[in-house]
Amino acid sequence: MIIVGIEKSGNFVSHFEELDKREDGAPHFSPATYFLPTDDYIKKRVIYSDSSKRYGMDTYFGRKFLYKTRTRDILEWRRRKIDWTTMALLLVDLHGKRENSLSNQMRQTKAMSPQYAVRWWKKHRMRPPDLDPVEFMMKKLKWRYRKGTLSAGQSRIYLGDSRSKLKTISDQTRRARTKLLLTSPPYQGVTNYFYDQWLRLWLLGGPNKPYSPRQRCKRKFENKDEYTELLKSVFTESKALLARDAVIYVRTDARKFTYDSTIEALEHAFPRKRIRDETRSRPKFSQTALFTSKVKTKGEVDLLMW
Ligand SMILES: C[S@@+](CC[C@H](N)C(=O)[O-])C[C@H]1O[C@@H](n2cnc3c(N)ncnc32)[C@H](O)[C@@H]1O
Repeated sequence: MIIVGIEKSGNFVSHFEELDKREDGAPHFSPATYFLPTDDYIKKRVIYSDSSKRYGMDTYFGRKFLYKTRTRDILEWRRRKIDWTTMALLLVDLHGKRENSLSNQMRQTKAMSPQYAVRWWKKHRMRPPDLDPVEFMMKKLKWRYRKGTLSAGQSRIYLGDSRSKLKTISDQTRRARTKLLLTSPPYQGVTNYFYDQWLRLWLLGGPNKPYSPRQRCKRKFENKDEYTELLKSVFTESKALLARDAVIYVRTDARKFTYDSTIEALEHAFPRKRIRDETRSRPKFSQTALFTSKVKTKGEVDLLMW
């Protein structure tokens, strides 16, 4: 049926629903068509307004578009593969550098609070990019699938707190003895991975403003003892899943406390393995190098164990 921008209800959805009904009850639009309403259209027919300011100017997103899916159904991102893939693709490019994302300028790694973001854009006289979202996403999709799609074989995804989740992994998987542990644990005292990702979480059905859940693993990891304990317990627990000759690759923060604690936890869990800091060979690919031009020190490090 209909998607309005990335909204699942509200004025725009109702408007398109009305438009899509002919008198005989048949739908009006063919599947897989979209419509980009102009500012004039929105003010005359959807959100009535005399304002000279463009609709949505001071909001997070530039333009709204209405899309009727191929299946003529509403977006069911929790149930359908195509829909959840669409959401995942949208949220990758939701915010980032201006013109290279769907929003006004914002760090790709963090979503600021709405009031802060709007104040900052006003101060820097920044406007949301005026882009065609369909054209934009088609370009991104062509790039993403230029070498085809990934064949994941018999893979499984577990969602949960790794301190308890790893213990629930079946004996069969344990016996398979994994050859690679690739991870990026939280950085101590730097960011709240929920609060700072609120915009993406909202796109996946979460609240429409920044929030901080109660669980400790969803906060900023300010307590140093709890932080080191987390690293030690998770690495020790994952050891039971790994083959003797497994390779371990860990991306983490270069700041001293996180860096030292990670090395200590890794050496504690894997005393027989060698460890090497791989950072120097590929610093230009770090998040810090990509998004912050002013920082001279390296932001992230890659630790390799074998
Ligand atoms: C440095 S980020 C890495 C994110 C991910 N690798 C990526 O590139 O998007 C650390 C992640 O660990 C998650 N995390 C923190 N504590 C956790 C726990 N106990 N179990 C599972 N994940 C946890 C955070 O929510 C955060 O998403």
